[in-house]
Amino acid sequence: MKRRTLFILSLVHLTLMLSVQKKTTRVKSADAIDLKVKTLLAKMTLDEKIGQLNQYTSDRLATGPLTPNSSKFNEIKTGRVGAMLNVKGAKETRMVQELAMRSRLKIPLLFGLDVIHGYRVTFPVPLAEAASWDLDLIEKSARIAGKEAAAAGVHWTFAPMVDIARDPRWGRVMEGAGEDPYLGSLIAGARVRGFQGKGLGNLDAIMACVKHFAAYGAAIGGRDYNTTDMSDRTLWEVYLPPFKAALDAGAATFMNGFNDLNGVPATGNSYLQRDILKGKWAFNGFVVSDWGSIGEMVNHGFATDNKQAGMLAINAGNDMDMESHSYNANLAQLVKEKKVSVATIDEAVKRVLRKKFEMGLFDAPYRFSNEEREKNTLNSPENRAAARDIAKHSIVLLKNDNQLLPLSKTLKTIAVIGPLAKSNIDMMGFWSVKWENDHLISLYEGIENKVGKTTKLLYAQGCDVTDTSKVNFSEAIATAMQADVVVVAVGEHFDMTGEAKSKANIHLPGVQEDLIRAIKATGKPVVVLTMSGRPLIFNWTADHADAILQTWWLGSEAGNAMADVLFGDYNPSGKLPISFPRSEGQIPVYYNYKNTGRPSANDYGTGYKSGYTDLQNSPRYAFGYGLSYSEFELSGLTLDKTSIKPNETIKITCTLKNTGKYAGEETVQLYLRDETGSVTRPVKELKGFKKVYLKSGETKMVNFVINKEMLSFYDQKMNWTTEPGTFDIMIGNSSDHIVLNSKFELLQ
Ligand code: BGC
Repeated sequence: MKRRTLFILSLVHLTLMLSVQKKTTRVKSADAIDLKVKTLLAKMTLDEKIGQLNQYTSDRLATGPLTPNSSKFNEIKTGRVGAMLNVKGAKETRMVQELAMRSRLKIPLLFGLDVIHGYRVTFPVPLAEAASWDLDLIEKSARIAGKEAAAAGVHWTFAPMVDIARDPRWGRVMEGAGEDPYLGSLIAGARVRGFQGKGLGNLDAIMACVKHFAAYGAAIGGRDYNTTDMSDRTLWEVYLPPFKAALDAGAATFMNGFNDLNGVPATGNSYLQRDILKGKWAFNGFVVSDWGSIGEMVNHGFATDNKQAGMLAINAGNDMDMESHSYNANLAQLVKEKKVSVATIDEAVKRVLRKKFEMGLFDAPYRFSNEEREKNTLNSPENRAAARDIAKHSIVLLKNDNQLLPLSKTLKTIAVIGPLAKSNIDMMGFWSVKWENDHLISLYEGIENKVGKTTKLLYAQGCDVTDTSKVNFSEAIATAMQADVVVVAVGEHFDMTGEAKSKANIHLPGVQEDLIRAIKATGKPVVVLTMSGRPLIFNWTADHADAILQTWWLGSEAGNAMADVLFGDYNPSGKLPISFPRSEGQIPVYYNYKNTGRPSANDYGTGYKSGYTDLQNSPRYAFGYGLSYSEFELSGLTLDKTSIKPNETIKITCTLKNTGKYAGEETVQLYLRDETGSVTRPVKELKGFKKVYLKSGETKMVNFVINKEMLSFYDQKMNWTTEPGTFDIMIGNSSDHIVLNSKFELLQ
C-alpha cells in the first residue's frame, strides 16, 4: 500500500471513530437528560407538574413596569408557572427567575417572546425577507434576532410562522413566507437554524416555536381566527411541508392555532398533534397553545366550558397552556375524575422539562440574564448593517419604464412626497419588539444621507394614509412641479397588516392613488414606493407610474436600504413570494393552480372557459416576479437524459447572461409539471431556484438536478409516490415568465 493511501485510510478511520464517538456522546447526553427529567418528575406533586404546563403573560405590555407582587408572580413562587411570555430584558428576566428559584423544586422558568423580525434591531417583516429568496440572509437575520434576544434573557421565540398564505386579505400574511410550499419550506428551515444557532444550550441560541399548527393560513375569506376547511390533499401538499421542514431543521417547539380545521380546533386536534406531529413525525419537543386558544374552544362550540376545553387540549397533545388559565384551574380535578391520566400529564411535563435541561437552565437559571452581555450585543453597528443588507435584498422592482431608475445622486431637485415619505414609525412593521424612542430611518432621511449637498430635497405629505380629503394635494403638486423627479411613498401604516388586521379592501388606502394620479399629471417622472405588510392593489399606479418599488416594511434601516436601491448602490433583486392580485374578487389567486377541464385560453372565462368574464385570471404581479436594473438572458437548456427511472436523476444545465449595463443578481427559477397523474397536478410547481450574481456582460452556467423527491406526490390513497409519465420543465425568472421549456419521461 502506498503511503498516501495509508494516510487516507487512517484519516477515514479516524473520522469514522470520531463520528461514532460523537454519536455516543450525543446519545449519552440525551440519556442523561432523560434520567434527569425522570428523577425530577418523581419528586413532583401533581400540582407542580401542572404548573410546568402553565404559561402566563406578564402584564408589562399593558400596564408598564413589572409588578412582582401580582398574583401571577406569587404563583411562580409556588411552582404553579412553567413559562412566562412578554418578560424581556436581562434585568426583568432575572428578577422574575428569582421568584421561580424560591419555589420548592426551583424549576426555572422559560421566557418566551414574539421575536418575529428582529429583537432590538428591527429587520424587514418576514414576508419582505422572503422576497429576497436568500436563505443565507434570512438565516442570518434570525441568527441576529436570536443572539440579541438571548442576550436579553429571552429563551424562546414564537417564530417562525410558517403558515402558507394565499389570501392577502389575511393580516398575518406579513408574518410568513408567502404562498409557495417549496420556498416556504426552505425559509422555515433557515429561520429555525437562525434562531437556534449551533443548538440549544449555547448562550446565543433561543428555542424556535413553529406556528400555527396547522393550516391557519387558510382562514376562510382571509378573516383572522376563522375556520379552515380543506382536503387532506391540500393539507399535506400545501400547508404541512413548511412545518415538516422546520421540524427537520430541529425546531424545539410548536404552537397550534386559533383555527378549527375540518371541524376540529387545532388546539384540540389529536390528528394534527398526536397522529402527525408527535406520531408520524416523532417530534420530541413540546406544543404550546396559542394565546387563550384552549378557552376559545368553548366559543368554537367544541367544549362546554374551560374545564372540558383543558381536557380536550391535553388529551389531543397540547402540552402547554398559554393564557387560557385552564390547566392550572382544572387538570388536577380532571385527573381525579379520570378524564385525564397522570401519564398524559407526565408525558407533557417531560417534554417541557427536557427543553429546560437542554437550555442549561437547571445548572444556571440566570445564564441568559446578563446585563453586561445584553449591553454589548444589542443594536451593534454590525447588526444594523445586516438589517440594511437584508432590507435592500427584500425590495422588489415592479416597474422601471425607460430605465428611470437608478436615479443619479447629482440630480438638482428631488421631491419626496406622500404620507410615508417621512414616517419612521411605520418602518418597524407590525411585530417589532417595540422600543420607545427608537429611531428608524425614514425614506426621506435615507435619501438625505445618500445624495450630495448640491441636490435639493423638497417634501410634501399630500395626504395621510387613510385620508379621504385631497385638500393638501395642491401643495404636493406645487412641490412636484419644482423637481426633476418625484419619489412618492405610499402604503399602509405599520398596524394595518398583522394579527387581527384582516381587510376586505386591500386597495391602496384612502386617496393615495389619487395623489399619485395628481403628481403624474404634472408630467414629472414618478417613482412610487409601496410600503406594506401585504400585497396591495394599485392598478392605476401599475399602469401609469414610471417606476415602482415594493418596499414592504423594512425595519430599522429602511430608509437607507431604499436609498441604496433608488440610487443604484444596490441593484434590486427581490422576487415576489406571493401573488399581487388585480382585484379582491379573484382572491385566492396563486401560481400553482390546477388546469381544470376548461383552461382559459385568453386569461378570461369567456367562451365557457374557467375564469371570470369581467377580469383576468392572472394576478397583477405573479409569484416569482421582480425586475433588475440589468437584463438577464436565459438560453441553452440541456438535459443529460430525456427519460429516467424513479431512482435516477436528470442534470439540467442552462446559461444565464447579464446583457444589461449593471452588475446584479438574477433568480433562475425551475418549475415542473406532471402532465398526467392519477390525481390532477398543478400547472407548475417551483422545485428549485438559483440566485446568480453576474457582472455586466458576464455569463454563467446554471445547474439543477431533478430527483425523485421533486417528482413525487400523494396518490389517491395519500401515498407519497411517483408515477410514470411526461414531465414539463420550465425555467424562467418568474412563474409567469418562462423562457426555457423541455420535457422528459419518468419510466416505470
Ligand atoms: C398569536 C401568536 C403569538 C401569541 C403570543 C397570539 O395572539 O396568534 O402568534 O405568538 O399571541 O403573543
